Amino acid sequence: MSVIVHENKAIQQELANGLLADRAHTSPKYFYDAVGSVLFEAICVLPEYYPTRTEASIMSEHLADIAHAIGPGGTLIDLGAGNCAKAARLFPQLHPDQYVPIDISVVHLRGSVRRLQQRFPHIEMTALGIDFSQDWCLPSEVRADRRLFFYPGSSIGNFEPEMALAFLKQLRALCGEDGGILIGIDLIKDHAVLHAAYDDGLGVTAAFNLNVLRHTNQQLDTDFDVQQWQHRAFFNAEQSRIEMHLEARQDLTIHWPGEHRRFIRGERIHTENSYKYSLESFISLLHTAGFGQSRHWTDDAEWFAMVYAKAL
Ligand code: AVI
Repeated sequence: MSVIVHENKAIQQELANGLLADRAHTSPKYFYDAVGSVLFEAICVLPEYYPTRTEASIMSEHLADIAHAIGPGGTLIDLGAGNCAKAARLFPQLHPDQYVPIDISVVHLRGSVRRLQQRFPHIEMTALGIDFSQDWCLPSEVRADRRLFFYPGSSIGNFEPEMALAFLKQLRALCGEDGGILIGIDLIKDHAVLHAAYDDGLGVTAAFNLNVLRHTNQQLDTDFDVQQWQHRAFFNAEQSRIEMHLEARQDLTIHWPGEHRRFIRGERIHTENSYKYSLESFISLLHTAGFGQSRHWTDDAEWFAMVYAKAL
């Protein structure tokens, strides 16, 4: 019980600090409450949002080659596993000895793992609830031999570059000398394609972005009215990132217990960055993080890449 109270306080402090900053911001992790997670699943099947289907087509077209490059057996550690579906597609080719799905919500994960264990009874499965935005480590139940970190979905793009490097360095330290990483990367491309992916015609991404205000109302007891805000998304070429913001449609004041913040019309809350890499810049980041030899697979248009890098 005391842990839950402590966590709520930390969340409230983080949200309040972000709202009171000169340039107001929230962390992308606050997108993913019950409504936000369903909206994200809807984004993934939108025609404009190419990353999910492009990654899936690369994986199915090159699965045998990817599995051959990695080699069978070992410990498959699935970062941000969700419903475990992406990793499950690897099992028949990769035959891992142990599967370790990790997600911020272990409750959701346990149901998926129970179903998966029935289909693959010979694979040892250990589900872990970890928030990567906090300090984290792997418990001793996770086997140390031939650890492969699987990080699909281009979620590394939601880290600031220095945090991405620190995260990759940590994975390198945790995978030992015989391990590696298989990671999905969203590549730099035509700006119109990028814009459409983050500002779709149906307005699902707009709803996903605005939902962070409802979530903040629940967590911090703020009085955001979503009707007073609008979704903004654009590619910042200098920083090589899509930026998502919420923009005030009018002058307004947001209140919460003991605090308030005034916003003038047009002022924004920065809610997400999604960095896009060139293959060269990402492979060089992997080398800086301590990874060695790498291979990659892309789609014909080179919109997305799966990169496998060995520890050495
Ligand atoms: C989870 N992440 C990789 C998504 C992205 O593309 O950066 C989150 C997202 N934001 C808006 N649409 C999707």
